[in-house]
Amino acid sequence: MAQLWGGRFNEKTDDSAYAFNASIGFDSRMYKEDITGSVAHAEMLKKQGIIDSESADLIIGGLKKIREDLDNGSLKITAEYEDIHSFVESVLTERIGDAGKKLHTGRSRNDQVALDMKLYVRNRIKLTDRALYELQKSLYDIMSENLDTYMPGFTHLQKAQPVTLAHHMGAYFEMFLRDRDRLADIYKRMNTCPLGSGALAGTTYGLDRQYTADLLLFEGGPTRNSMDSVSDRDYLIEFLSALSTIMMHLSRFSEEVIIWNSNEYGFIEIDDRYSTGSSIMPQKKNPDIAELVRGKTGRVYGALMSILTTMKGIPLAYDKDMQEDKETSFDAFDTVLDCLTQFNGMLKTMTFNKAVMEKSARKGFTNATDAADYLVKKGVPFRDAHSIVGRLVLYGISNEKALDELTLEEFRAESDIFDEDIYEAISLKTCVEKRLTYGAPGHEGMQRILEYYKSYLDKDAAGK
Ligand code: ARG
Repeated sequence: MAQLWGGRFNEKTDDSAYAFNASIGFDSRMYKEDITGSVAHAEMLKKQGIIDSESADLIIGGLKKIREDLDNGSLKITAEYEDIHSFVESVLTERIGDAGKKLHTGRSRNDQVALDMKLYVRNRIKLTDRALYELQKSLYDIMSENLDTYMPGFTHLQKAQPVTLAHHMGAYFEMFLRDRDRLADIYKRMNTCPLGSGALAGTTYGLDRQYTADLLLFEGGPTRNSMDSVSDRDYLIEFLSALSTIMMHLSRFSEEVIIWNSNEYGFIEIDDRYSTGSSIMPQKKNPDIAELVRGKTGRVYGALMSILTTMKGIPLAYDKDMQEDKETSFDAFDTVLDCLTQFNGMLKTMTFNKAVMEKSARKGFTNATDAADYLVKKGVPFRDAHSIVGRLVLYGISNEKALDELTLEEFRAESDIFDEDIYEAISLKTCVEKRLTYGAPGHEGMQRILEYYKSYLDKDAAGK
């Protein structure tokens, strides 16, 4: 056991209680953040004359060396330490002697862990944003090649009206755009520095909290209330909520990939590199990646529920319950990044069977609304037009004919308003191209939206 306390105890902690209490098994992944925070703290203590320059320099040099040794694997984090904070401080003191014992001046593990988590989450927000950006780029490529690829649009998973593949992909582009907005929003709100809040009530040392906040690039400066600072995990809840929404979007997309890839649909074929086989059925090529992404949505929601429930009813300020903020969150962070990466790989390599999609759009009376609109434009009230075309659909179903396969006589049997121009009015091309309302699938409109997406993506790439 290696811990930072013990003076007021007569007996040593029970071994199993020690292990139960320890967090080193999972907070070790925050070693970079912990060291970065400690370096900033030491710089500030030095500047304020709270510790002597010589000790501060030893501390800073020692911390940087520890980080280097951990990075290159020559130093290993072992389970005898209570947590990452104890590990770093103990190794530092072993290495540089008494100067190391000055590092924790004016600091508590409560503000230290609050800082580490914020630094860690801030970085994960950036990584998640990047992965979303990559996915958007793939979507953009698919869209720009498929402005004229017709396919059925669905409601209730029943063919509804024809759209294009570009338009359908655009719906996901928008979802990921909102996801990225949410991340930016969270990042901005959480970007305040808790270091210097101490255990809960600040300290009597003359800390310069603005200085550490600046060193650690917290644009919002230091947090305003020390009790809130050590016990705030809102940003984590917000991030997990945003991650859950990303997974919800990915699960919808996965579901469509699975359906489209099914033998019955055949809209797409998932590349061999992103498919798996069956141990018994030689013919099988399964969409396991998409299914796993859909499935993993559950554990990310679980992480959100877990932190919400952990934080419920916690009295101010820090309570050990909060150590439970890590394991499920870390798992969720990793899961979402993996899912985004794998999904993107699958998306970029899949084949779109454009002819099958177009054929499918021709079947299933997806132009029925347009047939009704044709009558409306010739003066028939919409409700009557709806009913006339409904009867034509019924007739088409019993005679196995699509609307555009009906003869003019057959059209006229329901209404003598129909004329030769009906065929043009309900052609797949017309159905899509005449849909020119802003946000609709028509080529021209979609082209303009694509230009917007292009400048959105370019701007981002330039800023990073
Ligand atoms: N391992 C703890 C956590 O993750 C660090 C803070 C410990 N603070 C304390 N007073 N025991 O929350």
